[in-house]
Amino acid sequence: MPTRRQVLAGGVVGFGGLALAHCSRAEMDTYEATQAKLRAPLPVSPQMTELVRFAALAPNSHNVQPWRFSIDERRCWISPDLTRRLPVVDPDDHHLFVSLGCAAENLMLAAQASGKSSAVDMRGNRIEIVFGGGDARQSPMFDAIPRRQTTRSTYDGRQVPADALRLLEEAAKLEGVSLLLLTGKPHLESVLDFVIQGNSAQMDDAAFVRELKAWIRFNPTEALATGDGLLGAASGNPSLPGWLGRAVFSTVFRKNSENRKYAEHIRSSAGVAVFVSDQESKAGWVNIGRSFQRFALQATALDLRHAHINQPVEVMALRSEFSKWLGLGGRRADLVVRFGYAPALPMSVRRPVERIIEPFA
Ligand SMILES: Cc1cc2nc3c(=O)[nH]c(=O)nc-3n(C[C@H](O)[C@H](O)[C@H](O)COP(=O)(O)O)c2cc1C
Repeated sequence: MPTRRQVLAGGVVGFGGLALAHCSRAEMDTYEATQAKLRAPLPVSPQMTELVRFAALAPNSHNVQPWRFSIDERRCWISPDLTRRLPVVDPDDHHLFVSLGCAAENLMLAAQASGKSSAVDMRGNRIEIVFGGGDARQSPMFDAIPRRQTTRSTYDGRQVPADALRLLEEAAKLEGVSLLLLTGKPHLESVLDFVIQGNSAQMDDAAFVRELKAWIRFNPTEALATGDGLLGAASGNPSLPGWLGRAVFSTVFRKNSENRKYAEHIRSSAGVAVFVSDQESKAGWVNIGRSFQRFALQATALDLRHAHINQPVEVMALRSEFSKWLGLGGRRADLVVRFGYAPALPMSVRRPVERIIEPFA
C-alpha cells in the first residue's frame, strides 16, 4: 500500500498508468501544514468563525464549496453561492442543497460540542440555525469531522459487522429520509451495472467532462491557490504539473478504464448506501445532506471509508429506472455511496473562512 506522501508525490501509478511524479518536498510540506491548520481541533470556547471552519469541512459536490455563512452568537444563515453551481452535473441544484445540508450538520455538531443547542429551519433558499443554551457535548461524530474524507480507492473487501451497520443506520435516521443499505453481492453487481451505464453516458458527454476538468487540481500548489476543487492525489492519482495534467487529461481519462476502475471499487466495497427523501424540494435535499453527513461521520468513527457513486441518480435517463429497481414507488433516489475499509488518501482543501463569511443582509 502506498503511503500518503507517496500518493501526493505521484509515487504510485494511477491516472490510467501514467506515473510522472511532480511534487517537491517543500510543496508537500506546505500542503500538510495547511491541512493541519484547516483541521485543527476546535478550541474549548471557539469563536463563531471556528464553527464555520468546521462546517466547511463538509463534503460537497466537486469540492466547489457552494456556500456563504452569516453568523453571530445567536444564529447562523447558510446561503447558496450560486456563482459556484455545477450546471451540467447538477442542473436543478440538488447536490448544491445536499452540500449545504452536510455543512449545516457539521455546524450543529460543532455548536453542540461548544455548549450550544441548535434549531434548524429552511427559509426560502437559505438554512437558518438558531442557537440556544446547553451542555457542551462531544460525540464520536463530532470528533470525526476533521478526519472524514471521500476515499476514491479500491477497498479491502472486508464485510462490515452487523452491529456497525446498525450504528450507521442509527446515525443516518432523520424524519423524511430513508436509508437503504445494500450488502449482498448480487445487489452490488446490479448497482455496478447502473454505475457503468451512467459513467459511460457522462464520459460521452463533452460538457460533463469539460465541467469536471475545470474543477480538477493537478497538484497541491494548484489546490492551495484556489482552496477548492478535486485534487488528483485525493483520488489516488499522481501529482502532475498543471500544463501536463490538462494536456494529457483526455488521453488518460477514458471510458473503459474508468468503468474498470468503478467495477474494482464497487466489488471491493462492503456495501452501498442509498439515501431517499420523502420530499422533492430544497428542504428535502438539505435533510438528505444532514442524514448523509451523519452517516459519513459515523462511518469515519468506525474507521470505515466512503465514496459517492452517484451516476445512476445524476444521469436523467437512468434515474427513474434505478428508483424502480429499488422499489421506491415514484420517489427519487438522492445519493448513492459505497463504503468499506481502506487506508486514508490525502485530504482535500477548503477556502479560508474569511472568504466564505458575509454579514447578515
Ligand atoms: C451531493 C454530493 C455529491 C457528490 N458526488 C460525487 C460523485 O458523484 N463522485 C465523487 O467521486 N464524489 C462525489 N462527492 C464527493 C465530493 O467530491 C467531495 O466531498 C469533495 O471533493 C470534498 O472532498 P472530501 O469529501 O474528501 O472533503 C459528492 C459530494 C456531495 C456532498
